[in-house]
Order: sequence, then C-alpha cells, then structure tokens
Amino acid sequence: DLDEAERAERIAAAREELGDRVIVLGHNYQRREIVEHADFIGDSYELSKRAAESDADYVVFGGVTFMAESADIITDDDQTVILPSMEASCPMAGMAEAVQVDSAWEELIEGTGGKDILPVTYMNSYADLKAFCASHGGLICTSSNAADAFEWAFERGDAVLFLPDKHLGRNTANDLGIENVVEWDPWAGGVAGADGNADALADEHGDLPGLDDADLEAAEVILWDGYCQVHERFRVEHVEDARAAGANVVVHPECRPSVVAAADEVGSTSHICDVIADADPGETWAIGTEVHLARHLARWHPEVDVRPLCGDACMDCNAMRQVDPNYLTWVLEELADGREPNVVEVAPEEKELAAVALDRMLEL
Ligand code: 13P
Ligand code: SF4
Repeated sequence: DLDEAERAERIAAAREELGDRVIVLGHNYQRREIVEHADFIGDSYELSKRAAESDADYVVFGGVTFMAESADIITDDDQTVILPSMEASCPMAGMAEAVQVDSAWEELIEGTGGKDILPVTYMNSYADLKAFCASHGGLICTSSNAADAFEWAFERGDAVLFLPDKHLGRNTANDLGIENVVEWDPWAGGVAGADGNADALADEHGDLPGLDDADLEAAEVILWDGYCQVHERFRVEHVEDARAAGANVVVHPECRPSVVAAADEVGSTSHICDVIADADPGETWAIGTEVHLARHLARWHPEVDVRPLCGDACMDCNAMRQVDPNYLTWVLEELADGREPNVVEVAPEEKELAAVALDRMLEL
C-alpha cells in the first residue's frame, strides 16, 4: 500500500516511460486519487469517444467493466483497453444478462400477442446484451438521449423493452407522456436457470408471473426489473430535507421517479456537471448521484455550495470503488515493463453487433 506521494512518483515514472502510448480515463464517479491522474474525466460515453479519438496504444479506463467494453468496441483494433481492477463490475449491468433476456424474449413476444417489440438498452450493460439488442432491431442509449432512443424505436415498432434500468425507463416514459408502462420480471419469485431455459422457468413460475397478458399486451413500454443500488437509495425525504436547508436539487435519472419528480433538475453526470458550472456564485446545490462526483464538483467549483444529497458517505458505488489507486499504479508499471495486465476484449462477433447498436444511437 503506497502513500500518495510515492504513488504519484511511480505513476509519473511509468507514464514518462510510456509517453503518448497510453491515455488514462477517469469516470466522474472515480475517487480523487484516480481522476487526478486522468487525462480526461467525464461520463462513460464521452470517455470512450476520447479513447477512440486518441492514437494511444493503451487505454487505461478508470471505470467499470461495461465502460471498458464500450471503449473496446469503439476504439481501433490496434488499441488495447485495460481495466485497473477486473472486480469493478456494475451490479445493474449484471441484472440483465444476455442469456436471461434471450430466453425471456420469446415469452415476451407471445405474452404481448405478437407485438413488434424493439429492445432499447442502456449503455450500462454488457457487450453481449448490446449485441442481442442489435440483432432484434434495437439500439443503445445513454441517460442523455434515452427519450430520442424511445422515439426512434416507436417509429419502427409497437413497443419498447427497456433494459436494464427500470427507473431510467420509467422516467423517460414519463418525460414523453407515455402512460402504458409495465415492469416485467419473467422470473418473479425465481431466477434464471444456468441454462437460461425459459420454458422450464415458465412451467415453474407460471406464464409471465406477476403480470397478466392483458397488461402486457396494452403496454407501450416494458421495463426489465433492473436498477442501480446506489441511486435507488435516494428518497423524496432527502430532496425535501435538502430544500428545507436552502439547496436546489439535481439528480440522476437512475433515481426513483418520485425523487426525479421532486428535484429541480435531472440529467446525466455530464448534465449535473453543467448545472454546477452554470450556477451563480453563492448558490447551493445538492447532488443526487454517486458521492464522488458531488465531492469533485465541490472541489472544482468552490464558489458554489455543493453538497451530496443525503449526507456524505451513503452513496458510494462499490463497483467504482474497486479501482484502487494502487492498482492504477500497478497496471501502468506493468505496461511500462512491456506486459499487458487486465485487458478487456470483446469477442469479435459480439463486438460487430454491439457496434451496430451503438451506431444506431449515434445516428439519432
Ligand atoms: P454516465 O453514463 O453518466 O457516465 O453514468 C454511468 C453510471 O454508471 C451512472 O450510474
Ligand atoms: Fe452501476 Fe450504479 Fe455504480 Fe453506476 S452508480 S456503475 S449504475 S452500480
């Protein structure tokens, strides 16, 4: 375990050796000791674009697995993406595994009386789900373009299956005034079998348990039952308490719809950064997202009173926290010594399809 000065020295030495063969990216939710060493700080999609625009051989991604995968999909084949910790996996992305969704798909089509359903998949998902989405005519979205993605899908189909984040899906439907929205858990009371056998599961748990076919048939938006365990912890009371203390409130759309409705502003991590950059000196803002972004914004904008919504310690993302500054040092030193640790590489066939789903998003 290195102290901060020693770590900074070793990182600088490794970077000196690597020169412009490496770039380091830091997601907005990474801790200070990571973002301080990053060439670019931003949201997941912005960072992947930065990686693709650079000529660096190595992209060291301070973030979680799905972000590193997205970077691998959109960078050139001769660029290598490295994740400082292979344990950094977003639990929400893991809530919609491609094998589960694939096995539930037929049930869904049957349950909706053969409706033309398009999957719309949030960026916070693994590459194989992005590939599934492309092969069923769907596209990817981020929290900043989810409404456009829904509109794109409704121009081409009757209904949207939104994965994995039910709150972002519901908030987007609310934004667009769509009322026929259902939450769908094909395995309510059970979990997908290792072989993803939908028929066996349907026998065990009944036909589309938890929802009757009439609801499903009427639905325009069907929400997969995923959520972010960090954002779901925010409650309306937190917003009310912040207001009572004189703060304006900005929240991420992964928060519950009740929290979004109570807030002054809602948007992606980039939007949250813009809100604070545009705030007048002396204004007070409470930030309803992962706590590290609130702390960065307080440091970057001392003229604004920035505070985390709901205290200081409770909204820490475990997945993001796996990226320890000592691991960052280790991967950079390994690269400088000619070894390639923790490479994130998407299989070629998945990569090709996932890129189709991402390209559809870019065309929005
Ligand atoms: P961004 O898409 O804004 O980077 O957010 C990713 C995320 O994990 C939100 O919880
Ligand atoms: Fe995943 Fe939530 Fe962490 Fe974002 S904050 S990486 S959605 S668990």
